[in-house]
Amino acid sequence: MTDSEKGLAGITAADSALSFIDGEEGRLFYRGYDIHALAGQGSFTEALYLLWYGELPTRTALVVFEGLLAQERRLPPEVEAVLRALPGDVLPMSALGTAVSVLGGIDDDAGYNNEEADFRKAGRIVSTLPVAVAAHHRLHLGLQPIEPDQNLSLAADFLRMLTGEMPDDISVKALDTSMLLYLEHGLNASTFACRVVASTLADLHAAVTAGVAALSGPLHGGANEQAMRMLDEIGSIDQVDEYLDHALANKHKIMGFGHRVYRGEDPRATHLRRMADELGAAFGSSATYKLSRAVEIAMLEKKGLHCNVDFYCASVYRSLGIPLALFTPLFAIGRSGGWAAHVMEQHRDNRLIRPRTRYTGESARQYIQTDQRNDRILE
Ligand SMILES: CC(C)(COP(=O)(O)OP(=O)(O)OC[C@H]1O[C@@H](n2cnc3c(N)ncnc32)[C@H](O)[C@@H]1OP(=O)(O)O)[C@@H](O)C(=O)NCCC(=O)NCCS
Repeated sequence: MTDSEKGLAGITAADSALSFIDGEEGRLFYRGYDIHALAGQGSFTEALYLLWYGELPTRTALVVFEGLLAQERRLPPEVEAVLRALPGDVLPMSALGTAVSVLGGIDDDAGYNNEEADFRKAGRIVSTLPVAVAAHHRLHLGLQPIEPDQNLSLAADFLRMLTGEMPDDISVKALDTSMLLYLEHGLNASTFACRVVASTLADLHAAVTAGVAALSGPLHGGANEQAMRMLDEIGSIDQVDEYLDHALANKHKIMGFGHRVYRGEDPRATHLRRMADELGAAFGSSATYKLSRAVEIAMLEKKGLHCNVDFYCASVYRSLGIPLALFTPLFAIGRSGGWAAHVMEQHRDNRLIRPRTRYTGESARQYIQTDQRNDRILE
């Protein structure tokens, strides 16, 4: 390994007790608990508690924790005013970054990075993000935001705030599990961005704003939306080969495939594939799942690449009726708990993150006075 691996591939850049990824074996653990156990039996808030406090909650602790989060589930008027003022075509991830930034400015603990302040801010971020995303979406459609119902779970309330209708239990469970699967994943690009910002002793909201920005790109969180766009473009199973052959021949990346760390199956994809299949069967609309499966098999055959978390998530969110533009904001809602955990870990034992570049430019050039330089037209 050189000391400047492109894209920092394979470089260990921080210590963390939050999650462990075994890329060779396709295993993921949150604080020592296998993702397969958590995603099969646990809930998003349970995993969030585990991440923030280091232990799985007792029944009472979980009820108290969920109650505290629910109390914070509201849209401060200052944030709503900013969302209303945004032009109609502002993308949801941009609106989300703006909302987090404004939230930070008005937070009672703004300017404080001690442990207690960080926990309070983390709770407010995780609880407010779903309200902000749903509100912005409705405003974008010319509709009024719907008030949160603090008696509902975060996943149930998000779906209700989108449409105004109470979601069914199957949809709530699926959304909750997807957020649990998105919650934490080591030093991915957005989490790294958060830790870099936190290491300057900027506050948690500033770090999460950076995380939202980093997540928005198609090589990271934006991949779930792009995967769905691709499936829509392919359209039907008989078009899969032609589409992939053309895309791969032209060196296009197939969204939702490949991973920097996993060599085999992404363990999160195992759950999302199952969920996509189950939702398709439950709602009598398996077309997207079946098309996804055909793409997955073809990609393995043609390129030896496995799908990642974002591929079947597209199919799951389509089954839940979630608008395409909200796929990546939902990733952000889930991951915000992980970002907050990393910021708190960074603040607890901080040293400024400041790597170096290896200089590859020219050296020892002579300065020439402005009017003596040869004309060069910049194109
Ligand atoms: C995730 C990702 C950025 C990892 O990138 P990376 O570790 O830098 O890997 P590289 O981009 O260097 O890819 C290595 C090889 O696999 C190929 N590859 C990787 N992912 C690919 C994909 N999704 N589609 C087609 N080819 C892919 C590359 O073209 C490259 O082939 P080459 O050696 O013949 O040039 C990359 O797999 C990707 O862009 N995937 C699509 C976006 C996505 O789903 N992101 C969400 C990740 S959770």
